[in-house]
Parts: sequence; structure tokens; C-alpha cells
Amino acid sequence: MDMVRWGVLSTANIGTEHVIPGMQKGKLCSVEAIASRSKEKAERVAAQLDIEKAYGSYEQLLADANIDAIYIPLPNHMHVEWTIEALEAGKHVLCEKPISMNREEAEKLARSVEDFPDLKVMEAFMYRFHPQWDQVKQWLKEEKVGRITSIDSIFTYFNNNPDNIRNKAEIGGGGMLDIGCYCLSASRYILHDEPVQVFAEMDFDPEFETDRLATGVLTFPGCSATFTCSTQSSPTQKLTILGTEGIIEMDIPFNPLLATTTVYLKKDGEIVEKKEFSADHYTLQGDAFSKAILDDTEVPTPLEDALANMKVIDALFESAKRQAVIKL
Ligand SMILES: NC(=O)c1ccc[n+]([C@@H]2O[C@H](COP(=O)([O-])OP(=O)(O)OC[C@H]3O[C@@H](n4cnc5c(N)ncnc54)[C@H](OP(=O)(O)O)[C@@H]3O)[C@@H](O)[C@H]2O)c1
Repeated sequence: MDMVRWGVLSTANIGTEHVIPGMQKGKLCSVEAIASRSKEKAERVAAQLDIEKAYGSYEQLLADANIDAIYIPLPNHMHVEWTIEALEAGKHVLCEKPISMNREEAEKLARSVEDFPDLKVMEAFMYRFHPQWDQVKQWLKEEKVGRITSIDSIFTYFNNNPDNIRNKAEIGGGGMLDIGCYCLSASRYILHDEPVQVFAEMDFDPEFETDRLATGVLTFPGCSATFTCSTQSSPTQKLTILGTEGIIEMDIPFNPLLATTTVYLKKDGEIVEKKEFSADHYTLQGDAFSKAILDDTEVPTPLEDALANMKVIDALFESAKRQAVIKL
């Protein structure tokens, strides 16, 4: 096998607009089937994206013996259920972020995965595959900013469409699960560590009952990470790493799509290095995961990382509810 044969569960926007076209550009991914609750929709999307097979149910796709791996861009409440279904059907799984609705569900998945030691599972935090992050990691490795003292990140957009999955609390809507999860994941990734305590303030939409604005502080040993995420604010994303000897700033840290994004290294208020990047992180993610399947090696981001992120998300919700610092 020199390419992984992929099937996609649903005609989700993220899949049809970005992830599938990205994977189709990859060297190791062959997207061969798509399933939808509607056979007509599956057929239409398959024709548009030049995908060979279209199925009218997710179960039918999982029963296809000629598919090796499944990409799951379903609403958040379906992630764990369908990851387990796919594993039981003998498929590797790349599941969209967040891996689950909460820590309990993520732990359930982690237990189930133990029954399938030959299959790979990864949460699709695609941002980590963008080359701008290799540059940031390199600067940190070279200690260009000295000791990291704080990280600050923001990720926002405005979406008040009641039909959008982000505005339906019961299926995993809200800013924390959709975009706040990136801020936490990135801070943990930068520090290669876990927070010891967290605090958050959240504002919930009165109609949707989803968190539409969340601001929080994650306390790591020797460093703090602050973040803001919002589903009802002007769209932006930024990340700053402050150190004792310098600052790293990222223009579009999480989802630059195909846009050129810039990372800056600053000292004493001056730009000392500036690097521009343009890449498709969905292509790179698909190939990296496929390579782990083909070579039978560890996936780039292990499931423990997804579990740790869910643990932080749960603690932030608890903090906002109790208006208290939550120890981890
Ligand atoms: N990594 C990234 O860059 C990124 C970006 C955006 C979103 N995401 C993640 O990707 C996932 C999908 O997001 P999206 O915005 O693409 O979603 P979306 O367009 O609303 O698509 C979700 C799909 O799930 C299927 N579905 C099954 N049961 C459903 C239900 N009860 N309600 C709604 N849809 C249902 C539908 O497909 P069928 O009708 O074809 O069955 C629907 O098209 C989420 O987990 C989100 O967090 C990731």
C-alpha cells in the first residue's frame, strides 16, 4: 500500500471546502468515498470533488472493505460515538477537534482505543502541521526569547445563525469547544506542559445557551497563558509569546487556510526576524497521519494530548460556573 484509502463521514463544510481538497493534494491520501445522511447529497458532493464512491449512510461507508481510514467532521456530540464505530469497523480515524464534548467522553474513547492496538486515532488539530509553527518551535528551541513568562491568544468570529452547529448547545456548540480549544492546545503545545490551575469568565447567549465570550487564565509552572474566544465578536486570531529576552508574535496562528501568514521575533520593540509562510495544513496533516499508518509509527499528536485538552476545557467551564480558581 503506497497511499491510504480515505472515506469521509458527512458532507460537512470543513470537509468539502478545505480538508478534502487539501488531502487530495497530498502524496499519501486517496479520498475514495464520502457518506451523508442523504444519498443525493453524498452523490452531489462526490461528483463535485471527484470522489469515486458515495454512500447514503455512515454505516455503509464503514462497511466498505476497501477503505483504510476515516475522516470525521461530524458535529462535536458525534465524535466519540463515530470514532468508536469506525474503529470497530477496522478503520484508522482522523477526528475533527474537539475530540469530544468533555473529559468523561474523551476518557471513554481512550479506554475503547485500547481494544484496537493496530489502529491509529488522532484529533485533527491541523494548526500544528503549518510550517509557521516549526519556525516558532525553532526560535523557542534556540531560546531566542529567553524564558517564556506569558502567552496570550485570541480567536473570534461573529456567527449568530441559529441553524449553525456552533449555536446549538446540545450538539456541542459554543466558542470554547469550537475555537477556545485552539488557544488552550497551542499554549500547552508551546510550553510542552500542562496547567496546574485555571480561571475563566464566560458570557452565555440567552437564546442559544452557548458560551459566546470566554476569557481565561491558565497557570503553568513559571508561566501563565491568557486567552479570549468569542462566537459573537469581530473576527480575529493572534498569538503572542512573551519571554525574558524577546517576543514572538503570530499573525494568523490557527487557521490561515491558504493565506500568507507572518511570524515575528522582536527584541526591545524592534523586529529582528520576520518569516512569511503559505501552506495547506490540511494537506500536511493528511499526509502526516497517513504516513503514521503506512509506516506503522506513532501518530504525530497522540490521543493523550486530546484528553489533556478536554480536561482543561472542563475545568474552565467549572471555573466560570463557580467563579473560582480550579486546581488541576
Ligand atoms: N479543523 C478545522 O479547521 C475545522 C474548521 C471548522 C470546523 N471544524 C470541526 O469540524 C466539525 C464540523 O464542522 P462544520 O462547520 O464543517 O459542520 P457542518 O458544516 O454543520 O457539517 C456537519 C455535518 O454533519 C452531518 N450531521 C450529522 N448529524 C448532524 C446533526 N444532528 N446536525 C448537523 N449536522 C449533522 C451533516 O452531514 P450529512 O448531512 O452529509 O450527513 C453535516 O453536514 C466540527 O467538529 C468542527 O469543530 C474544524
